Amino acid sequence: MSASTIRSWVIGNWKMNPVQADAQQLIQNLKQLLQHGPIAEQDCQLGIAPVSIALLPVREQLEDAAVKVVTVAQDVSRFPATGAYTGEISADLLKDSSIQFVLIGHSERREFFGDGPAVVADKIKHALAAGLTVIYCVGESLEQRESGLAEQVVLQQICDVASVVKQEQWSNVMIAYEPIWAIGTGKTASPQDAQSMHAKIREGLQQIAIQAGNSAILYGGSVKPENAVELAACPDINGALVGGASLNAESFYQIAQAFAKTK
Ligand code: 13P
Repeated sequence: MSASTIRSWVIGNWKMNPVQADAQQLIQNLKQLLQHGPIAEQDCQLGIAPVSIALLPVREQLEDAAVKVVTVAQDVSRFPATGAYTGEISADLLKDSSIQFVLIGHSERREFFGDGPAVVADKIKHALAAGLTVIYCVGESLEQRESGLAEQVVLQQICDVASVVKQEQWSNVMIAYEPIWAIGTGKTASPQDAQSMHAKIREGLQQIAIQAGNSAILYGGSVKPENAVELAACPDINGALVGGASLNAESFYQIAQAFAKTK
């Protein structure tokens, strides 16, 4: 499979936003845009990652959207099944609620909630065992980039989890490259820098397993309508994980359109 035949994805990561009424309005607005200008699934697949308390209402509200928009959990427990783990939601419970997708290893989880390599690997292992599709987030800090360590850090993050992914499970893994210095800062990696890192990630994945080389690699970090077309034009950028701009239906829709048209 060449990079250009990999399906595009644009996923909105709402993080700890917004309040219920605004979430409902946001979905309503997005549904209206999709009603008037549908984005075909084969051109770009869409996903929304709301706060955990909103997963089911958002999923229900999206059920009658003109095109399929999947609901994505922002995180999952490192423990499987059910049990005495206060505050946690396991992969099996997500699956039980028909939530099929989950972000794992977001830099905000790594920074504020202690999600180190072992935790992230446990989460991926259980999510895949439950049959979920994982969007595994990787990315370097500004300091690491300025010290020339960006590639090494990112490839290490991929290696950290490679041993828990069985060959046949790679079809259920996407990677999101999100340079930490570009998240919420308005600074985007240049399309050249992003493409170069994505190509390295692709190479690294191909070395791990042939199937891994076919995984979609999304870019995240201040993606907005103004830079989406250029990013989408890069051969190894198969989509976007969008934070701030996904809180506005029109911006999110325009980003999805950019990927749908360019890919
Ligand atoms: P921003 O698009 O707000 O920079 O956030 C990116 C991100 O962290 C998506 O997961």
